[in-house]
Amino acid sequence: MTSWLAGLEERARAVLPAPVHEYVAQGARESVSTGEARPAWAAHRFSPHVLRDVTDVDLGVELLGRRSELPWGVAPTTLQRAVHPDGELAMARATAAAGGLMVVSSNAGTPFADIGATGVRWWVQAYLPADRTLAEPMLARAVEAGAEAVVLTVDTPVVGTKHAVGESIWATVDPALVRVNFGPGHEERPGADKATDLGPHDLDWLRESTGLPVVVKGVLRPDDARRCVDAGASAVWVSNHGGRQLDRVLPTAVALPPVVAAVGDDAEVYVDGGLRSGLDVLAALAAGADAVFLGRPPVWALAEGEEGVARLHAELVEETVEALRLAGCRRVADTRDLLAAPALPAP
Ligand SMILES: Cc1cc2nc3c(=O)[nH]c(=O)nc-3n(C[C@H](O)[C@H](O)[C@H](O)COP(=O)(O)O)c2cc1C
Repeated sequence: MTSWLAGLEERARAVLPAPVHEYVAQGARESVSTGEARPAWAAHRFSPHVLRDVTDVDLGVELLGRRSELPWGVAPTTLQRAVHPDGELAMARATAAAGGLMVVSSNAGTPFADIGATGVRWWVQAYLPADRTLAEPMLARAVEAGAEAVVLTVDTPVVGTKHAVGESIWATVDPALVRVNFGPGHEERPGADKATDLGPHDLDWLRESTGLPVVVKGVLRPDDARRCVDAGASAVWVSNHGGRQLDRVLPTAVALPPVVAAVGDDAEVYVDGGLRSGLDVLAALAAGADAVFLGRPPVWALAEGEEGVARLHAELVEETVEALRLAGCRRVADTRDLLAAPALPAP
């Protein structure tokens, strides 16, 4: 018997068209980083507290000045409407009901206004184009629809190559399911390609043009994390894009602690990549993350519609509360001294 969460991908594979399943599952090039992500979390060992009152456990955390009931959020992912017709709307409704946070891909297939109307707390993710001004209308729509922060993805100067075993999703997917928040003909405009010259000054530009706090997603090095904070980032998001960009990069479970040390209390630190269970969430929180994000799991859950995403949050609450109790912790802040050093060797 395996847990509901552990069976997520297999159940999704059974109902999704093969190219959609493959698109979500795939990693870049040799998929080394995609494969290493989860085992790297499982290499951590806890040193739990005992003789502590764990009657009431609170999973809530403060993120960018506002309480979230969950210490995890939904990471930005494209093509949610290829996974389920309700796409981002189902994701948003279920996440709102759980008191959680959703980051919406700038390539989303649902108008930001409709996502905002669900009442979910949400942040917009952005890839900046070579001509920055081409992103302005999309960003303005996000601000108008209630996005509370902008997440700048910085690990994608070019899209990492992925080799589809079968038919590529791009050959089959309805183009109406992506990038609906850009104006018509956006991709054909000169300067619409992804920027290959992003720099710290882009954080200023984003903050000024949106009036929102900026989160930088895709950082793996402590020196880069520091540069982000010095350039005014409100949070640094440790991520290797689920192993979908540069392959053979270090697992985020390994990258996180030095980033936490470099950032200190100057900004929040988030992490994603391979987090699949309450124990994984506990490991990331114990290693100093202010919150974690889930990429593929909510997408697999979305194959079961809004109910699937609701159940994902509920199962993860149950597992994480149990893990905190067994570790002698009542709240996230109590977890920070739980990791027994050293972790087992990374795979
Ligand atoms: C199908 C898919 C689409 C994604 N699309 C985006 C995107 O549009 N923008 C972005 O910043 N990251 C994107 N990501 C990366 C996720 O936000 C996240 O970093 C990664 O999936 C986390 O790893 P996990 O899937 O192991 O949880 C995507 C990931 C997947 C699997």
